[in-house]
Amino acid sequence: MSIEVRRTESHELRLAADTTRIALLFPPVDDTEWEKWSPGWEREHLSVSAWDGDRCVGHAGSFEFETLVPGGTWVPTSGVTRVGVLPTHTRRGALSRMMRLLLDEHRDEGKVIASLRASEAPIYGRFGFGLAGEAVSVAVEPRRTGPVRGAAPGSMRLLTKDELLAVTPTVYRRAQHRPGAIARSDFFWSRVLKSTIEGASAEFVAVHTSPDGVDDGYVLYSIAWEEQALADNMGTCTLIDLFGASPEVELALWDHMLRLSLIRTIQAENRPLDDLVRNAVPDRRGYQVRRRWDEQWVRLLRVQEALEARSFADGPSVTIAVDDPWYPDNCATFHIGAAGVRRIDEPADLHAPIAAISAAYFGSVSWRDLIVVGGVTGTTEAAARADVLFTCHPTTWSGTFF
Ligand SMILES: CC(C)(COP(=O)(O)OP(=O)(O)OC[C@H]1O[C@@H](n2cnc3c(N)ncnc32)[C@H](O)[C@@H]1OP(=O)(O)O)[C@@H](O)C(=O)NCCC(=O)NCCS
Repeated sequence: MSIEVRRTESHELRLAADTTRIALLFPPVDDTEWEKWSPGWEREHLSVSAWDGDRCVGHAGSFEFETLVPGGTWVPTSGVTRVGVLPTHTRRGALSRMMRLLLDEHRDEGKVIASLRASEAPIYGRFGFGLAGEAVSVAVEPRRTGPVRGAAPGSMRLLTKDELLAVTPTVYRRAQHRPGAIARSDFFWSRVLKSTIEGASAEFVAVHTSPDGVDDGYVLYSIAWEEQALADNMGTCTLIDLFGASPEVELALWDHMLRLSLIRTIQAENRPLDDLVRNAVPDRRGYQVRRRWDEQWVRLLRVQEALEARSFADGPSVTIAVDDPWYPDNCATFHIGAAGVRRIDEPADLHAPIAAISAAYFGSVSWRDLIVVGGVTGTTEAAARADVLFTCHPTTWSGTFF
């Protein structure tokens, strides 16, 4: 029987959730879990699914949020998530058709980019996604790393349970300054702060306040304690979020972390490549990178709007011809300079497949590298001009998994 791909009806969402879980090698959802999760499936979520008769055999969903682009504008984003096809129905084109339907709908609704976190790196390039931002997981030894140089002045306070949802989201929004950061909805916050609010484990939010009274950063962390040897520091701290409005505020938050008593190791799964703290402590080897991974896959859905939304650095202009097999409107040549972007009808300096310009968009992937490995054609001189215009500091990083 052929596979039907369509929007999921609301009464089918639980079947779709089961399919996604099984494809991702988890058991199906039980009643208690579904009670907790169904709001996240029913609201703020575009859901498409694949059906073999009355069996749901595949699912792809998408959150709606905004992403920060270079220059400080937030653009409407399709946050692709919950992707899976049952092992009985893979490699028959189900994901390809679901992805097309999902992105078509969100593009029609005005989403400018799509963004996702991939289970495997080879899956999404064929749909026009490019790797736009990486991250590292790290282990830090506080006894080797403190004290921190360059921290912003100010004070720290621990939030009470009642303050968590009232304060943390506001400080988070104020603290975003990296391209690729995403706006977190109430649903995201209920997930991020769930354990802290429930208080089942030792989990805390500490907020930094500037000398003039503005809450400008926070750190969210949990602690696991092994009561084996009083003689040694046995706590392991997991750093979940650390966001500050400036590098100096982030150093103040790190200073708080590195001064915690009784902690032997601080581990963090998701930190930016250019975490400044490693250069702000006397012994940088106390900050060890365990793994470097592909955090953010991005696809430009509306190329012109995306380019117009971001700013470009000063430098000579460049012209880039984009090829997008899915959306003919994106197939055009763009003149890009510090003053802005316009379509032109002239030969281009660089020719870029949609996945390449999507990778380069946030300014952390080099056009010169894309000539070598990303399918871009043109001269390295033109790519060097594009690099000057596109490059952005600090590096692209979101810090939010979904
Ligand atoms: C990844 C997954 C959703 C792909 O679904 P699918 O329906 O088999 O994908 P399609 O049939 O549309 O495949 C399209 C193309 O992508 C390729 N492809 C699909 N999954 C791939 C993978 N994991 N690695 C490499 N290539 C892959 C296919 O070979 C196919 O290539 P072709 O057109 O050249 O033949 C499915 O394998 C799955 O559910 N995996 C486990 C869960 C998972 O990883 N989900 C993603 C979470 S981010």
